[in-house]
Amino acid sequence: MLQLTLYKKLGLLFGCFLVLTACHTSGDQKFKDRKVSFNSDWSFHLNDSILDKDTIGTATKWRTLNVPHDWSIEGKFDEKSPAGYGGGALNGGLGWYKKIFKVAAEDSSKVTSVTFDGVYKNSEVWINGHYLGKRPNGYIGFQYEISPYLKYGDQNNEIIVKVDNSKQPNSRWYSGSGIFRNVWIETTDKLHVGQWGTYITTPKVTAEKASVQVETTIQNQYSGSKKATVTTTIFKEDTQVTSVTQNITIGKNANQTIKQEVQVETPILWSVEKPELYTAVTEISLDDTVIDAYKTSFGIRDFKFDLDKGFILNGKQVKIKGVCLHHDLGPLGSAINTRAIERQLEIMKEMGVNGIRTTHNPPAPELLDLCDKMGFIVMDEAFDMWKQTKTKYDYGNDWDKWHKKDLIDQLLRDRNHPSIFIWSIGNEIPEQWNENGVTIAKELAAITREYDKTRPLTAAMNPPVNMNIEGVNLQFEKAEVQYNAIAASGVLDLIGYNYAHQTYEYHQKNFPNTPFIATETTSALETRGYYDAVSDTLKKWPVRWDLKFRGGNPGNTVSAYDQVQAPWGSTHEATWKVIKKYDFLSGMYIWTGFDYIGEPTPYEWPSISSYFGVVDLAGFPKDVYYMYQSEWTNKTVLHILPHWNWKAGQNVDVWAYYNKADEVELFLNGKSVGIRSKKGDDLHVMWRIPFQPGTLKAVSRKNGKIVLETEVKTAGNPAGLKLTADRSTINADGNDLSFVTVDILDEKGVLAPNANNEINFSLKGNGKIVGVCSGDPVSHESYKGTKHTALNGKCLVVIQSGNETGRLELTAKANGLKPSTTVITAE
Ligand code: GAL
Repeated sequence: MLQLTLYKKLGLLFGCFLVLTACHTSGDQKFKDRKVSFNSDWSFHLNDSILDKDTIGTATKWRTLNVPHDWSIEGKFDEKSPAGYGGGALNGGLGWYKKIFKVAAEDSSKVTSVTFDGVYKNSEVWINGHYLGKRPNGYIGFQYEISPYLKYGDQNNEIIVKVDNSKQPNSRWYSGSGIFRNVWIETTDKLHVGQWGTYITTPKVTAEKASVQVETTIQNQYSGSKKATVTTTIFKEDTQVTSVTQNITIGKNANQTIKQEVQVETPILWSVEKPELYTAVTEISLDDTVIDAYKTSFGIRDFKFDLDKGFILNGKQVKIKGVCLHHDLGPLGSAINTRAIERQLEIMKEMGVNGIRTTHNPPAPELLDLCDKMGFIVMDEAFDMWKQTKTKYDYGNDWDKWHKKDLIDQLLRDRNHPSIFIWSIGNEIPEQWNENGVTIAKELAAITREYDKTRPLTAAMNPPVNMNIEGVNLQFEKAEVQYNAIAASGVLDLIGYNYAHQTYEYHQKNFPNTPFIATETTSALETRGYYDAVSDTLKKWPVRWDLKFRGGNPGNTVSAYDQVQAPWGSTHEATWKVIKKYDFLSGMYIWTGFDYIGEPTPYEWPSISSYFGVVDLAGFPKDVYYMYQSEWTNKTVLHILPHWNWKAGQNVDVWAYYNKADEVELFLNGKSVGIRSKKGDDLHVMWRIPFQPGTLKAVSRKNGKIVLETEVKTAGNPAGLKLTADRSTINADGNDLSFVTVDILDEKGVLAPNANNEINFSLKGNGKIVGVCSGDPVSHESYKGTKHTALNGKCLVVIQSGNETGRLELTAKANGLKPSTTVITAE
């Protein structure tokens, strides 16, 4: 059998012509892409006063950096920022990027393009003074051919990018600013597979056989017609599975789409547990010489959304246990980094999450690649608004001119990803309440179906039903009883519910012909590690949302007991209980997996980041993470909260999340305070006990046998720091990251749960500190500094490798505490 290694050799023919950029292997290292990274050595200048490229003067000061880059995260949190606290109180502005580069002389006969995966926002690009174009949407990838304007050999080329994020507000969450995703240079023969030029579907899948259809769009940029051969070879890892060849004649300066079909015997199916991928390699040959090779990763799976049984994947019912994620990466801002995304997904997987909704825009391509590889059920969302704006300067202003192209490009870019199962054409679109919404929804649905008929489409509606239905106990203070025109229009394949969990059980009655998906749920609120409340004054434990209007909690905190929710949402438990109960409810996407910058509901300034995450901004789980883990994974779980540092005699609620056991017994200083068992649909058990310092120990048992034990101890004064790196060996590629957790411990090594010491970091070796964060929504310390104040005993520092191998020695110090050092090896 032909081995994929053959294509390694081919790789040398493609993609290595750019002089300045080293030949780059992407992905699986087995086959070199046509594209090479164009991320390094950009010059950057932030200045609102340079409006025109021609006014950039010789005196303009430039800073050298690599993209992806987000300049907003480098700024100061500012109460008066035009972005508002919704936008994270960080400024936008107008920035300029430029890069000087050379192109090898032999490439003058080739086609060279530059691809931006996303620039927030309103980018305009010039090459050697020639204007290439503008792209208002910050979240969509775009490509310009630059070969007609390039100088070859020893001569310099100059690319300039203007990024205008100065009109604020334009987002309901923190967007970031700049070339915040990857940039690539792609060099091909004049006869080549076009941009996003393959479309792979698997119309028939059985255990014995899958038919794989490959549509390939070939572009001929020669001035004469060409007779060529197109061969598509399917690989599983390194092994060739099957291959098909077709001869074509393609006219000059023309595009041609061909369809090829192959059969894969005993296909290895893509699933959440085993996300098996195949690779299709498309080769174009002229006179028996391969002149272009293009790689597409895909998966073989069979799925449907069933009216009664919910989501069925490869014949098996799978409940979608999803989370919504915004694109920021906490302290790294919106500058994408593959390892940072991977870490987020790993933390979600540990919790039992199997689905991601890319709120509310096309994500970085790397997120989708990772979801393919790690096994997530993705809802890929296009828009947060259509024509009607939500903030003054948002995308609604660009709607008329751009929505069609943006949507098509998203579909073309993303439709080969096996992890994508649902297209969402919009989130809480204001037009959902009137017939305009139906007209636009129909247009978007027609576009989506033209480019991909293999996945259902939905819209995230709030809510799709009249909330006044029989049996529903309205929890809204001002219930808006409305008729959702999009839901009623019949245009959607799935009815997408944002919130309104009280209505889910009536779904089949309300929409007998359309399956269900909870596009967005919950919006519960917590500060990680914070449990106190105004209970002493209000005699309630813990605080609820509406107490905000009576002054709220000290320091804009929210209790981490799962009892606090936005009025339109629910506790974590309430929504999951309903989804769990009925088979026809295919699943849910929690708002949100991680806290994100901006939208600090329920508070305003000084809060600048959200409280919705199951995990905080630094990546530390809140307690409710373990409720999901006990329900959504096969791990054996026993988790108790809160910490054990209270006032003597104070009544404290102790909760336990557990599974695989029929009871939990709690002991305080060795004395039993009672056995509890979950009853009915309970998801936790609770004891209310007076505090005594010492050890609180929980023991879970099944049939009298101990399953797990866990304990929390009263901590003494903070005494020292402990550093724990998530990875102590990282790649010396100038990009890789180690996420290091700082714990503040007492003398005996117990986490000091209220410690908020300021910690100073220093790093020796070829690397840098690229982020610091405690997960505190009211902290205004820069995430880009080298010191940070811990929140409830914890802090995070993110280390990035340089390009040299060696030791990276990280030290953390805080006044009065024993310092700590850890070594990370870059290799
Ligand atoms: C939803 C909205 C999200 C976020 C959330 C906060 O209505 O779709 O983007 O704003 O509320 O609860």
